[in-house]
Amino acid sequence: MSKNSLDAFKFDQTTEEIDASKKVKIGIIGTGWIAGAHLEQLLQMPDAEIVAAADIVPGKAEKFFADNNVDASNIKFYPSHKELIDAGEVDAVTICTYNATHAECAIYALEHGMHVLLEKPMCVTLDEAVAIRKAEKASGKILSIGFQPRFDDNMKMVKDIVQSGALGDIYYIQTGGGRRHGIPTPFGTTFIQEDTGVIGAMGDIGCYSLDMVLNAIGYPKPLTVTGYTSNFFGKDPEYFTADGKPAEYADIFGVEDFAAGFVRLEGGIILDFRIAWAMHLDTPGDTIIMGTKGSLRIPSTECWNGTIGGDLKLYQRVAGKDVCTEFPMLPPRAHSGFYYKMRSFLDAVKTGGKAPIPSEQIIINQAIIDGIVKSSKLGKEIEIEIPEI
Ligand SMILES: NC(=O)c1ccc[n+]([C@@H]2O[C@H](COP(=O)([O-])OP(=O)(O)OC[C@H]3O[C@@H](n4cnc5c(N)ncnc54)[C@H](O)[C@@H]3O)[C@@H](O)[C@H]2O)c1
Repeated sequence: MSKNSLDAFKFDQTTEEIDASKKVKIGIIGTGWIAGAHLEQLLQMPDAEIVAAADIVPGKAEKFFADNNVDASNIKFYPSHKELIDAGEVDAVTICTYNATHAECAIYALEHGMHVLLEKPMCVTLDEAVAIRKAEKASGKILSIGFQPRFDDNMKMVKDIVQSGALGDIYYIQTGGGRRHGIPTPFGTTFIQEDTGVIGAMGDIGCYSLDMVLNAIGYPKPLTVTGYTSNFFGKDPEYFTADGKPAEYADIFGVEDFAAGFVRLEGGIILDFRIAWAMHLDTPGDTIIMGTKGSLRIPSTECWNGTIGGDLKLYQRVAGKDVCTEFPMLPPRAHSGFYYKMRSFLDAVKTGGKAPIPSEQIIINQAIIDGIVKSSKLGKEIEIEIPEI
């Protein structure tokens, strides 16, 4: 991970026609690393007007705009999400705070009648996800969760293949990914501290793997989970980062750097999941979706971040022959997934449309992560129950 990581979110200038006569007034909550990507996309959208920003670190929000060479004379600054929301001057907020404060910021915004684009992971526990869903339902506002890989054509191809029925009945899925040296501390330690990150590799990259396969198969409910989490690398005082420097964060490392889960889903499907920020291995394997009529292999990437690492392969038996159909990687779209995640949110706000990445799906993602944490602590399989909302 490097400072250049943000380059992954850069995109071409838009050529799409956007109706700028109706502007959406936006407040950015949390002006750290990922807020830079939000800002970059919003600045390209003629119908987005950034009117407010908040950060709990004094002066950080003001510096954020100065560092990004943005004229902030029309932007009001606030010391936390509460004051920004209480001021009531925005239609929508993008929540870019660390995981620990996703729920309180999202709930407060929804309760005050604002649309919300909430960074992933949705939050850190199932209880929080339920509370967010309740606030969303009571508000009637749009809540979209920030899973930009959904807007990648290759990710859509995975779903299209699965939904075509070519796999028959799906019975087993293996997914996840990992990095040999990928504990993310490019701009600070909020990902790895318990009080800010709360969950580690699962909330950072594991949630992408879960979304890839669960979205492809229609987000069935999870029934039971056997989970495991560990942090052998993060807590190792002699651990070295990818560039060979001492990591020097063992004493503050408070989340998991590896997690695994064996999940039974509705419909008799087994989901076998593992995710690693650090390991003595190149990759814990490709994603595979196995069905009664065919199986799909989705190559992993070296630095798993929710993008697909190579051509998809569909294995079937046709006319008595074992065959394999390759689906070559599709070229990138005109803009990055990050652009479309924000564009689709703004469009939904302007048209009163549906949330592009709905929380009713992502609550299932969160329930699995929550189940892995709880099962790991208890050391046994547990049942997952998602209350009706
Ligand atoms: N979609 C992606 O590709 C992507 C990439 C990186 C990070 N993220 C997600 O974005 C979130 C933030 O990550 P980051 O690396 O930018 O973290 P960060 O620590 O750099 O920034 C978070 C900021 O939020 C501020 N903050 C916390 N609580 C606040 C509150 N109540 N009101 C106002 N400000 C508050 C903090 O002071 C900090 O400046 C994480 O949940 C992470 O998972 C998503």
